Amino acid sequence: MTKTLLRGRVLSFRSEPAGPDDADAYLYIEDGALLVADGLIEGVGEFPTVAAQAPDAVLIDHRPHLLMPGFIDTHIHFPQVQVIASWGAQLLDWLNTYTFPEETRFADPDHARAMACAFYDQLTAHGTTTALAFCSVHRSSADAFFEEAERRNMAMIGGKVMMDRNAPEALLDTAQTGYDDSKALIDAWHGKGRARYAITPRFAITSTPEQLDMAGALVAEYPDCFVQTHLSENRDEIAFTKSLYPKARDYLDVYQNHGLLGPRTFLGHSIHLEPREIDALAETGAHPAFCPTSNLYLGSGLFDDAGLRDRGISNSIATDVGAGTSYSMLQTLNEAYKILQLQGQILHPLRAFHWITRGNAAALGMQDRIGTLEVGTDADIVVLDSRATGAMALRMERAETLAEELFVLQIMGDDRSIAETYVAGVAQSNVSQIRAPENAIPRLALA
Ligand code: GUN
Ligand code: FE
Repeated sequence: MTKTLLRGRVLSFRSEPAGPDDADAYLYIEDGALLVADGLIEGVGEFPTVAAQAPDAVLIDHRPHLLMPGFIDTHIHFPQVQVIASWGAQLLDWLNTYTFPEETRFADPDHARAMACAFYDQLTAHGTTTALAFCSVHRSSADAFFEEAERRNMAMIGGKVMMDRNAPEALLDTAQTGYDDSKALIDAWHGKGRARYAITPRFAITSTPEQLDMAGALVAEYPDCFVQTHLSENRDEIAFTKSLYPKARDYLDVYQNHGLLGPRTFLGHSIHLEPREIDALAETGAHPAFCPTSNLYLGSGLFDDAGLRDRGISNSIATDVGAGTSYSMLQTLNEAYKILQLQGQILHPLRAFHWITRGNAAALGMQDRIGTLEVGTDADIVVLDSRATGAMALRMERAETLAEELFVLQIMGDDRSIAETYVAGVAQSNVSQIRAPENAIPRLALA
């Protein structure tokens, strides 16, 4: 069996940095190496020491770049790769005008398969190796999502959305078919290789109470599945939800009443929260998913990271493509920094890079497998070039500390800073990827 030795500057977090000076929170090795064998990290340390562990290993020299764990995105929509950058609407109009029509195309399994290839190409090009993703309502879209992840040996979590009202007919399941299809997908995929299933009622507006009952039944039957949905993203969405569920104490109560909250539950956005909802998040251990590029793009609002953290709530961070405007977790950190600035909060680069690696992994309960570079974990690795552009190289001439370098990546970095991405030890730039067919240059209408 061939072993691979990756040489570079190694950075991996052991815990969330308590502050800028918390050097115990991470491992940083200037002339470091990772020994990769059989998809796993077999050694990590100083280059000469790790090299001596496997003298026959194939050496890949990534100096002067940084070797970090692959990034983790905790909220993204696989059927929205062609919705990103759709102009001029806030949430409910955006869904009705652009998103729902686009998702109807995923009834065609060939389209879903082509888009799954394009989706994973984008994730790995941006350094993301694991994502928690929404598929379309169609069972075959989730099959395409998991089949392509399996082909690439990626640790992916996803589920078909359950939605039985307030959307075009072509996108509706029923309480019963939503349950049956989800169950069939769980049986087919959950725990198969690196795949995990997420029970996925889209949001309260598109599910009847009967459907949420069925989603709750699935959670009770499969307690080790994840749950994902949306919460309190937009004021009109909240008002509509309250009109549909008049007996609920608040928006979160709709999900709570149906047994959908627990430490494996991820709630996209969670912006406009009432005090009782915050109490319920703290009590149940559910995770808000902060989606900064999306929240700015749709004009949704400012996520109160510090307020929730002070209550012991563990927030994850995510792109929310296609309302999110970039697949890059670096660009996500850039916008997160600005959203927190507007509220007098601050995101230090050490905490930021912990968040998109070990932090999101810990929220998922998967830090034993992904999100660090510990020996024995999966070799999902990103190689970061902090001088990827002229502007970055110029700025880097004046950077003196690791934190300064990380901040340059946090603010200026994107896919150009991803020199390589390894999935289970395999360099993705070498994997022959079947890309979505390039369209001929289209004739564009003028309006
Ligand atoms: N709420 C319900 N569906 C969606 C979606 O697809 N994107 C976003 N941003 N919010 C939603
Ligand atoms: Fe979303």
